[in-house]
Amino acid sequence: MATALKIEDLHKSFSTGFIPKKKKILKGISLAVEEGEIFGYLGPNGAGKTTTIKCILGLIFPKKGKIEIFGHSSYSLQAKEQIGYLPENPYFYDYLTASEFLRFYSQLSLMKKKDKEDKISSLLSLVSLEQSASLPLRKFSRGMLQRIGLAQALLNEPSLVLLDEPLGGLDPLGRKEIRDIIVKLKAEGKTVFLSSHILQDIEMICDRVAIIVNGQIVSQGTLQDLISEKILFTEILLSGVEEKEVEDLGECISTHTERLLLKVFEDEKIEKVLQLVQSKKGKIHSLIPRTETLEDLFVGIVKQQ
Ligand SMILES: Nc1ncnc2c1ncn2[C@@H]1O[C@H](COP(=O)(O)OP(=O)(O)OP(=O)(O)O)[C@@H](O)[C@H]1O
Ligand SMILES: [Mg+2]
Repeated sequence: MATALKIEDLHKSFSTGFIPKKKKILKGISLAVEEGEIFGYLGPNGAGKTTTIKCILGLIFPKKGKIEIFGHSSYSLQAKEQIGYLPENPYFYDYLTASEFLRFYSQLSLMKKKDKEDKISSLLSLVSLEQSASLPLRKFSRGMLQRIGLAQALLNEPSLVLLDEPLGGLDPLGRKEIRDIIVKLKAEGKTVFLSSHILQDIEMICDRVAIIVNGQIVSQGTLQDLISEKILFTEILLSGVEEKEVEDLGECISTHTERLLLKVFEDEKIEKVLQLVQSKKGKIHSLIPRTETLEDLFVGIVKQQ
């Protein structure tokens, strides 16, 4: 497998203020994305995610560092031809219909007219917007706009797709639709690099992640490498027992109706809870061992900085 994107020791500063003062934004970013994977670039607001993506695209120039796309310098035409990009806040000409919008962008490519039209219909179908092909974009929901934006990013048949916060501001259904498209892109053999701070989505679809905090990568690897499989505690949802009867066995985190949700940290106490519920003729509704989540890891790392 080839390396789709390789970034080595990337530094970028911006000058700000009336009396310009240099502020270091990227402080030596290095990462590698392998061909065919979905790579999540995670970080809090202002960490430097968009700045990194703009450097990859050559929209801004780093002070130092090297970026390669499938082995070609990011400044080369061979590199640029292979990239598709969905910006963080895309701008849409909202009087255009969905297919006019794609046709407008397809003019930038050297494809034959017939091929362009075929491409536009296959992309509209990929993002489930065939039914809305003749609808002006001003009538689109945010989720539909994000999907047409994604279709635009795929017009030049890129091998590497860069998506800056593709799930931002979407409701759960909208997020699922975008996630499904991203997974389809992977199935087609494309490499996807996406930035996000919606951790559940990253957890669901990414093969590997890098976490950037304050311009530095603080963690990078597969989710299995980063997240410990160790059971942190067990959540037991039970009824038929009073809160005070279980307070020594675990932490009662919520009570709704007659049910208690108990967080139990020691294995032997799980046994005691089960015995108690049985002796009181109560009921266990669920018992779920909880391992670390990406959110635990992320919150832990960001707090340490
Ligand atoms: N053109 C610019 N001039 C000056 N400062 C900038 C410029 N672009 C970005 N910055 C600063 O660089 C830092 C990183 O910004 P960036 O947009 O890369 O963050 P981000 O990780 O994408 O955040 P978010 O999650 O909010 O999108 C921020 O402090 C931002 O204010
Ligand atoms: Mg950003």
